Amino acid sequence: MKVLVIGGGGREHAIVWKLSQSDLVDKIYCLPGNAGISEIAECVELSPGDFSSIIDFVKYEWIDLTIVGPEEPLARGIVDAFQKEARRIVGPCERAARLEASKVFAKDFMKRHNIPTAPYRVFTSYLHAEDYIKFKGAPIVVKADGLAAGKGVFVAKTVDEAIEAVRLIMKEQVFGKAGERVIVEDCLDGEEASFMAFTDGKTIIPMVSSQDHKRVFDNDEGPNTGGMGAYSPAPVVTEQVKRKIMSRILMPLMKGLRQEGIEYRGIIYAGLMIKDGEPYVLEFNCRFGDPETQPVLMRMRSDLMKVCLAITDQKLDETRLLWKKEASVCVVLASKGYPGKYEKGKVIHGLEMLKGRKDIMVFHAGTSFSDGKIVTSGGRVLGVTALGKDIKEAVKRAYSAIELIKFDGMHYRKDIAAKAILRENR
Ligand code: AMP
Ligand code: GLY
Repeated sequence: MKVLVIGGGGREHAIVWKLSQSDLVDKIYCLPGNAGISEIAECVELSPGDFSSIIDFVKYEWIDLTIVGPEEPLARGIVDAFQKEARRIVGPCERAARLEASKVFAKDFMKRHNIPTAPYRVFTSYLHAEDYIKFKGAPIVVKADGLAAGKGVFVAKTVDEAIEAVRLIMKEQVFGKAGERVIVEDCLDGEEASFMAFTDGKTIIPMVSSQDHKRVFDNDEGPNTGGMGAYSPAPVVTEQVKRKIMSRILMPLMKGLRQEGIEYRGIIYAGLMIKDGEPYVLEFNCRFGDPETQPVLMRMRSDLMKVCLAITDQKLDETRLLWKKEASVCVVLASKGYPGKYEKGKVIHGLEMLKGRKDIMVFHAGTSFSDGKIVTSGGRVLGVTALGKDIKEAVKRAYSAIELIKFDGMHYRKDIAAKAILRENR
């Protein structure tokens, strides 16, 4: 079979890598892909936003299945466009993708269906939001309604900081239309975890748990990024917590979607805060997480292509997922300046030394070719991902692999999974 993956980051490299191990897959295309992906897939130079050209390409190449990585095409209805042409695609339709594309929709949905999340209010007026923040006090969280590339959430320590966030979103309109409405919600404490699942609209099957590291610097300092590293499993998600996530969050979510006549097929991601063993939803994403997918797919034993076909054929009830017992850790290597303005075009050294290792995968994110050399072309450049018998061993392997890699201005967090190791040692 032929398969097309849309996207060109570390998540998509992990998806392409995993698909390449399937007996069912003869050829993989990726749009736009990156230098690492081009070693296992044919990279296609089409814009991920140009749905009609993508569908033409799928017809011309007789592609059997398309898998969507990032949220923008899903939020803009790529799945609906494919379905009109009776083409197989993995991902939710535009209505279902609102769970990620509109935080107001997601919060109101959770309220309607009694899914645990922080108490909140929605505002379309700056002055009303300001009054409410003064009334509630800090810490408090301000969120832009729409997609803001992971930058639309402000966890404010003071009332002034929160009001400044509302000003930036509503008056300065730094996120454009995405900031026409804001959510002001209670600040939850606890430990975060990511929980992803496959669903065909009828059956939902969880993946193993994981945890992201959003801040750029060690000890969770500095601005938020797309994610500086992740590990799986997340020890905070015990069997008991997992049962609660399924029974109080994911099952009610599926039931609620059905009741509202919304069909959700694809991957659902719940960003959670776990406090005293109780899970609360911080956000839903309608796709695989990045970088969580890198360690999670490294642990997956089942055939991803089979799972994706079961999703489109609504046969997930016949599927069982198998996972490696080992733990996995991904450390992101970023360009100088990231998450702000960053440098590009720096030659990456050392990648060849890590080829062929079963316990290490270097997933590419922002990389491309220049004069036959692999160079940096994005903020997040590589995700060095290792397996180990436990998180401690996986961490050690990932960091010793990083010693072999170099590019000008490279920076990364030195404390990925450090908290999980403390827990493991307890
Ligand atoms: P989101 O995109 O909604 O997941 O928010 C991004 C990050 O902001 C989360 O990963 C949390 O670290 C933080 N966050 C969001 N909502 C809350 C909340 N209600 N309380 C505390 N932290 C939050
Ligand atoms: N790692 C968080 C996300 O993919 O949105």
